[in-house]
Amino acid sequence: MTRDENISTRRSDALVFFGASGDLANKKIFPALNAMALRGRLDFPVVGVAKSGWTREQLVARARSSIEAHGAFDSAAFERLVSRLHYVDGDYFEPETFAKVRRELGSAARPAHYLAIPPSAFGGVVEAIDQAGLGRNARVIVEKPFGRDLASARALNRTLHAKFDERDIFRIDHYLGKEAVQNILYFRFSNTFLEPLWNREYVETVQITMAESFGIEGRGSMYEETGVIRDVIQNHALQIISYLAMEPPTTSYGEAVRDEQVKVLRNLAPVHPESLVQGQFRGYKDERGVAKTSMTPTFAALRLDLNLWRWHGVPFYVRAGKKLSRNITEVTVELKTPPPVVFGEEAPKQGNTVHFRLSPDVSISLSASAKRAGEKMVGKRVELSVTEEPAQGEEWRLDAYERLLGDAMSGDPTLFARQDLVEAAWTAIEPALGAASSLHEYEPGSNGPREADALVEGVGGWNTPL
Ligand code: BG6
Repeated sequence: MTRDENISTRRSDALVFFGASGDLANKKIFPALNAMALRGRLDFPVVGVAKSGWTREQLVARARSSIEAHGAFDSAAFERLVSRLHYVDGDYFEPETFAKVRRELGSAARPAHYLAIPPSAFGGVVEAIDQAGLGRNARVIVEKPFGRDLASARALNRTLHAKFDERDIFRIDHYLGKEAVQNILYFRFSNTFLEPLWNREYVETVQITMAESFGIEGRGSMYEETGVIRDVIQNHALQIISYLAMEPPTTSYGEAVRDEQVKVLRNLAPVHPESLVQGQFRGYKDERGVAKTSMTPTFAALRLDLNLWRWHGVPFYVRAGKKLSRNITEVTVELKTPPPVVFGEEAPKQGNTVHFRLSPDVSISLSASAKRAGEKMVGKRVELSVTEEPAQGEEWRLDAYERLLGDAMSGDPTLFARQDLVEAAWTAIEPALGAASSLHEYEPGSNGPREADALVEGVGGWNTPL
């Protein structure tokens, strides 16, 4: 797309979102726009586009119900949003739809186009954006899935790059916008005590648990195409690993954080099939849109290894699944146990652990051993809380989508997945795709298949109890 000099430093002056009547708009985009309106930051026109046969009033009604269900409704903020909201109903294959978008944009000259639509529609829409002259000084925002394997990710990328430069493409992985994920980076690089320990000399294991107690919530046909590895591991879990394992980025140039992330993922050893356990919850095959013979995993536990000087030999275990016993996303970094020469039999059986809780509540804490009061030199586990926030976010807390939309509009790419990162992630994870020949059934509400526990038997089990 053509672009005037210095557009990268200029804020987009309008947001066009395709898929305005869809699920993503309902759950995430309207609440994010509402949060911007609440903070007085919604100072640009927003044009929703969909092919639903809707009127603008119907879109406004959808915005209201979406915010009531997923955001903090405030009538003054809602009025501000409504006064900015435009609607274009039309087919993505009709040039007339894009001519209407252009009219609605009025004098706006630097739109950001958010493609909240299936990737199969990207090609046609970016072409039509270009044809309608809406690509000049424009940015494009896209959502995962960024392909379903390396080859399709590359093909998708070619589609976007046919019309947009990489610097104008913003791929959302909402985990990067989470306050708690940001804090991994902050905590690591703002505390001197951590750095000497953060390596293979002192770290025993790193574990990531992403457990959800709910199922696939009516997304059967989508989930059938995805499965847990594509849904949350190839993207969210690997983003977390890149933040945990990266070298300190410098502030001397804008791409430093993303460069360090890519270095980590490029050095992930391909997943070994023996280090992978996959499961499917009982009843999954009865969900709407799911094949009776489905082999799609809803649970996976795997070991990942980094071929990096700092991390060589330290296993990174990831466990993720639906319909488990509880909702919890947590990272634990377990340090090695001290030698048992001082306390002999009474020596701590576990090392110190650093916990990053991402949800439902957000916290960073350290587990340590301290002496139990009394005559004997016996220890007990204590938790030192570094920071703690309740499950329900305070109003001031930026939701991931609000942060990311704001960053994309401002042209700040730091929290978006660059194409080389996406490709490195697919390269490492590809051996785990389609390998569900052995799929262990597990009970809804359980801890997942028992075989997943065997994976971590040698390191004292999972650090996050389910
Ligand atoms: C999405 C997945 O990307 O992330 C969902 O498609 C998953 O299946 C969700 O539930 C988890 O996100 P969060 O923010 O609730 O941890």
